[in-house]
Amino acid sequence: MAEHRVLRMGDPELRTVSESVSCFDDSLACLIQDLWDTMAARGGVGIAAPQIGVPLRVVVFELVSSERYPEAPPVPRTVLINPELTFPDDEMVDAWEGCLSVPGLRGVVPRFRQIRYSGLDANGSRFEREARDFHARVVQHECDHLDGVLYPQRMRDLATLGFEEELSLSQRLGEISCQV
Ligand code: NI
Repeated sequence: MAEHRVLRMGDPELRTVSESVSCFDDSLACLIQDLWDTMAARGGVGIAAPQIGVPLRVVVFELVSSERYPEAPPVPRTVLINPELTFPDDEMVDAWEGCLSVPGLRGVVPRFRQIRYSGLDANGSRFEREARDFHARVVQHECDHLDGVLYPQRMRDLATLGFEEELSLSQRLGEISCQV
């Protein structure tokens, strides 16, 4: 049980397609705890196993409440393994995102507003949920990591990519992050 180093953009491990989990053993339980520990230490809302160098289809996420996302409703503490996403309609919404693997930067990313997701929990039990807005965004962001995709690859306009400090100084981040 430990905090791990988070791989950063440019590391080829972040670009690989991760493998499905088939064995719900102690090493999986350790991986899940390490993900929670690393996420908490970095102040993230979610993290995916490949970000700590483990190429398995495991993500965890939770938002209790956050100054960083003041308008975002809480997201339940979730372990999601071998996820499958479906999109009930085509509606997309733009909002700012950051990533523990792209430290210091934020950018505007289009995501589906509504999703359905299913997968296995830490015990291997199947569950399914509907989510929208911030919750849906977090799931789409984390699941992209399992396919080797980082949020800048989803951006339509790289002109919005910038350093957090500069964006907050220019107020742009504050104005727009309220949409999250
Ligand atoms: Ni990320």
